[in-house]
Amino acid sequence: MQKSQPKNIVILTGAGISADSGIATFRASDGLWEKHNIEEVATPEGYARNPELVQRFYNERRAQLLDPKIKPNRAHSALAELEAHYQNKGIGSVTIVTQNIDDLHQRAGSKNVMHMHGELLKLRCVKTQQVVEWRSAKPVTNADRCQCCTSPQALRPHIVWFGEMPFYMDEIHYKLSRADLFVAIGTSGHVYPAAGFVANARSLGLPTLELNLEASQNASQFTDSIYGRATDTVPQWVHSLICS
Ligand code: APR
Repeated sequence: MQKSQPKNIVILTGAGISADSGIATFRASDGLWEKHNIEEVATPEGYARNPELVQRFYNERRAQLLDPKIKPNRAHSALAELEAHYQNKGIGSVTIVTQNIDDLHQRAGSKNVMHMHGELLKLRCVKTQQVVEWRSAKPVTNADRCQCCTSPQALRPHIVWFGEMPFYMDEIHYKLSRADLFVAIGTSGHVYPAAGFVANARSLGLPTLELNLEASQNASQFTDSIYGRATDTVPQWVHSLICS
């Protein structure tokens, strides 16, 4: 573990951090990719073939996220607390790079969050790429059109599908280049480029820490690991860092 307190921390989060809030992960035996076909609901080709099916998949996810029962959990709150502590004490920066499309980090109070795989509560004009907020459980249909150009266009989910380039890649690499610690929380390490950040961090000489329920696909690349539920491990880790 870190000997001195790191100044700049980059934290990659995945579905595991939201699991205890009641949002299903992707690759568990009861996960989303057991019940839905990735090619059909999470690729540009799937959307071109059957936009209604794709909209229905994300409408369900959005309605679930907006259900009052879904709330940020202790892990999200601990990361928000860490960011606020670093800011208030002028220690350095805490950057969250999330693969999650939910807004639970923001609801917990985190400010410095990059959604590299997009956001469920946003839609995008298929022609101009203009992004609009959609903070309603009202299902999006193909009759919902973007009004940003003279001919109204379809609004697709603002989600990075397989085969598309994640958002914020330059900013993420810049943040990594300035970081003193890289942490991955609740991600299986199956999906690149996020799964490659640990190797980037190692090549920059950073200590790397994995907090996950179990060893991830690329667990051997981390210098340290703590296994358990994020709602237990993340508050403990944050507490140890704040008190170090
Ligand atoms: N606490 C900590 N970790 C957990 C918990 C928990 N309570 N529950 C599950 N996990 C771990 C699992 O052990 C697994 O390693 O979280 C990880 C979730 O892995 P995935 O379902 O593969 O999710 P993720 O890594 O975020 O997926 C990456 O894949 O399909 C795409 O775009 C999608 O962003 C997603 C990307």
